[in-house]
Amino acid sequence: MAPDDFAFLARLLRRRSGLSLTPDKKALANRRLTPVMRRFDFKDMAGLIGELRLGREALADAVTEAMTVNESSFFRDAALFRKLREDVLPRLVEARGRDKRLRIWSAACAAGQEVYSIAILLTDMGLVRDGWNIDLIATDLSGEAIARAEAGRYASCEIERGLDPHAMRYFRRERSEWAVDAALRRMVTFKRFNLLDSFGWLDEMDIVFCRNVLMYFDIATRLDVLDRIADTMAPDGLLLLGENETPGRAGFAASAGGPGYEKSRASILRLG
Ligand SMILES: C[S@@+](CC[C@H](N)C(=O)[O-])C[C@H]1O[C@@H](n2cnc3c(N)ncnc32)[C@H](O)[C@@H]1O
Repeated sequence: MAPDDFAFLARLLRRRSGLSLTPDKKALANRRLTPVMRRFDFKDMAGLIGELRLGREALADAVTEAMTVNESSFFRDAALFRKLREDVLPRLVEARGRDKRLRIWSAACAAGQEVYSIAILLTDMGLVRDGWNIDLIATDLSGEAIARAEAGRYASCEIERGLDPHAMRYFRRERSEWAVDAALRRMVTFKRFNLLDSFGWLDEMDIVFCRNVLMYFDIATRLDVLDRIADTMAPDGLLLLGENETPGRAGFAASAGGPGYEKSRASILRLG
């Protein structure tokens, strides 16, 4: 890809999704965009980028979608889910005991593994049976990921990653796939949503899962998203980041003492 075309692509992706496409990702971009190039009948990348420059929306959408990383798994980061089950959720349940209301947002839910893991946790804790009013919201930029999450159907290899035998009772085998229990699906509101857009439609959140997505953004975009998440949170709310996104680690160091965290009212769950 010509340097000029690559620079144009990087600007487009940053604007549309926050993705920070650094020059070392050139080969990755070529690999990911080759199927889009074929689907839209372009001879080469120059043709694809040329059409993007003309502002063709459907193509820009397909390019953005192709560049998202939708990797996820059930109960990803087992230690975090253990801490939620044994410590964080029991404390929150005690604090919200009068209203019996919990609002939880999975902010980059990919194909739904994260939000169904949360739904399993809440069901196992007896909150659903005890009549708690639980708003479980799952959003993602990718239309394909949201459609998969909403369908709640997984291949055996996806089920085998992270689900213990106990949690398997929430899944039913349907031919070559596993379908998530309808009651779990009904607990979740799915919506296609870009983290770069306004959070104005969200109620005050008790827990926000924003894991393994900010790491693809540049520092300024991370801080902007973190600031706006903090504004949506209850004063004792919790923001959960990915395993490698703990402030202080590489890439997040600049944000640890920066405006994002000064402004933040949310606690960030740290492990270790
Ligand atoms: C690696 S997955 C993380 C899934 C899950 N949170 C986890 O930790 O397993 C990253 C997800 O972020 C989504 N994403 C990327 N940019 C986004 C944006 N600007 N707004 C919302 N979601 C975005 C991608 O579509 C992808 O599904």
